[in-house]
Amino acid sequence: MIGEWLDIGWLDEIPLRGSRVIEVADGDDIAVFRTGDGKVFALRDRCPHKHGRLSQGIVHGGAVACPLHNWRISLSSGEALGEDQGCTPTVPVRIDAGRVLIQRAAMLAAAA
Ligand code: FES
Repeated sequence: MIGEWLDIGWLDEIPLRGSRVIEVADGDDIAVFRTGDGKVFALRDRCPHKHGRLSQGIVHGGAVACPLHNWRISLSSGEALGEDQGCTPTVPVRIDAGRVLIQRAAMLAAAA
């Protein structure tokens, strides 16, 4: 851990258009996504619709399609796109020398 930032591993360990899951004790998991153009985002691993696991969805552009009913969730805002309504909490992410860091307090708040 670096201050309030939690080091979760190497950027290259997250597949392009894929994700990895960070388990949070006593809370929901956090899904960390990497888009096709290499940007990284972290969200609670729960769809705002009926709690589908977003980490098991398909990343397309800057959104992930929930595996249960195909809602598309913006990776940057956590908002449902299109006609659908709802939002899942996001967590700030930064990359430092190839390592992925997520903001610890925001992670705990998003997982609660
Ligand atoms: S639970 Fe995600 S779209 Fe229904």
